[in-house]
Amino acid sequence: MFAEDQRRMEDFCHRLGGILCDFSKQGIDRAALAALLDLAQAAGTEEAVSQLLDGAIVNRSENRAALHPVMRAAHAGRVAVLGAREAVALAAVDEQMRALVQRLRDRTSAPLDTVVNIGIGGSDYGPRLLADALGDGVLNSRFLSTPDEHAWTELVATLDPLRTGFVLVSKSFTTPETLLNAHRARAWLRQSMGADAASERLWAVTAAPDVARGFGISKGHVLAMADGVGGRYSVWSSAGLSAAIAMGWDAFQALRAGAAQVDDHVRSTPLAQNIPVLMALLDFWHRVLCACPVRVAAVYDVRLRHLPGYLQQLEMESNGKGVSVDGQRAVPHSGAALLGGLGPDCQHSFFQALHQGSSAFPVDFIGVASSGDGDTASRHGLLANMLAQSAALMQGHQSSRPQQACPGNRSSSTFLLAALTPTTLGQLLALYEHKVYVLAHLLDINPFDQFGVELGKRLAAEIEPMLAGTGSAPAPDPSSARLIAEIRKADSR
Ligand code: F6P
Repeated sequence: MFAEDQRRMEDFCHRLGGILCDFSKQGIDRAALAALLDLAQAAGTEEAVSQLLDGAIVNRSENRAALHPVMRAAHAGRVAVLGAREAVALAAVDEQMRALVQRLRDRTSAPLDTVVNIGIGGSDYGPRLLADALGDGVLNSRFLSTPDEHAWTELVATLDPLRTGFVLVSKSFTTPETLLNAHRARAWLRQSMGADAASERLWAVTAAPDVARGFGISKGHVLAMADGVGGRYSVWSSAGLSAAIAMGWDAFQALRAGAAQVDDHVRSTPLAQNIPVLMALLDFWHRVLCACPVRVAAVYDVRLRHLPGYLQQLEMESNGKGVSVDGQRAVPHSGAALLGGLGPDCQHSFFQALHQGSSAFPVDFIGVASSGDGDTASRHGLLANMLAQSAALMQGHQSSRPQQACPGNRSSSTFLLAALTPTTLGQLLALYEHKVYVLAHLLDINPFDQFGVELGKRLAAEIEPMLAGTGSAPAPDPSSARLIAEIRKADSR
């Protein structure tokens, strides 16, 4: 690729704030890229981006805007989209958050040393990623998503109820996994300090404040979440409370500002230099033109270990759909499935298939150039591996022994953060969010609903009584009936 195009590096590599985005190892030439850019232009990508950022109804199946960019906008930007009244209400929630974060982090007066985030999906991945990546250790952050009793038991074995608080995050406040864990947390606190003191250690973040109040959360402990913010896009909103507690309010604001910088970039940068647009076009190229159903995200910094899970929800819950935005036709391509993990671990598991498997899967490599005062040699070891993997995928290896040959010409992008800071992580997450949106636009998919997850939830609610022997409805199918019988048999042993 580089031999054929000497200036490739200059034109396929872009910098945004603290992130270098290198697309030069993508197996696409200038002519193909130009054609893709024409396609983006013809599809009205610029207008679609403006619609999102202006608060137009982009979530058509649910007839609402997608307000996550507003959550990180400055007050004037919020007023422009929401109007003064709503913007002031949002500022009030921010102030409630800021005061709480400050109070809990003031270790001279606050009694808590640990805050547990209870939530699942978008109410877990974002705060978990940020607290792990950017938490400063003033308070311990713990996360509970699964309803599995083992997870609960394991968690509380390490906690002192007198020094623990819980943030219950659920946009709907109806998610069974979260409610079960919320009940456990409340009972556990009550047991050691009584109901009144227990309620002082429970906070709720939700778009259904009345339901949270009905659960018993006191009024001042409920933080409102806007209805127009989707769960997987919600970390910028009050749903990011546990992250803000872990990293401090100023850092949380810096995260938002980093993302807002990307909002400005995607709105005002010509398509050919517009990084999320280029990311989306590369995904489109692999998915639609190369029929590649899988892509990979490998991170080379342990502080980003939760990023692949976060991106999986972001990408696949958004674009894992087979129907057009107007609901009138089947679309031939949903977004690709995303496989990912910590780079060194991935190298020793599925990377073999990337180098020699019969299908080529594009990879996003994500690394951090400087880790502050860490050990330089070990960082170099990590980053050398990251660079080696992308080089190996591209150049391949010729050998007289077929078992040892690697075909090469396998595409990757590299995102190199100058350092891991709230600003650069905010930028990175917003790049992916906008990539997902632009790709959805090109695929004619609504990235903001998630009706597909409802069927399984409904069936689980029907099957649970069957397992308890109280259900009157028949099992959904013979396989389920057999498995239910087996589980009931185990219960009676
Ligand atoms: O998995 C479906 C989903 O609705 C996600 O979109 C959401 O992030 C998650 O469940 C949790 O929902 P809630 O915040 O309402 O508890």
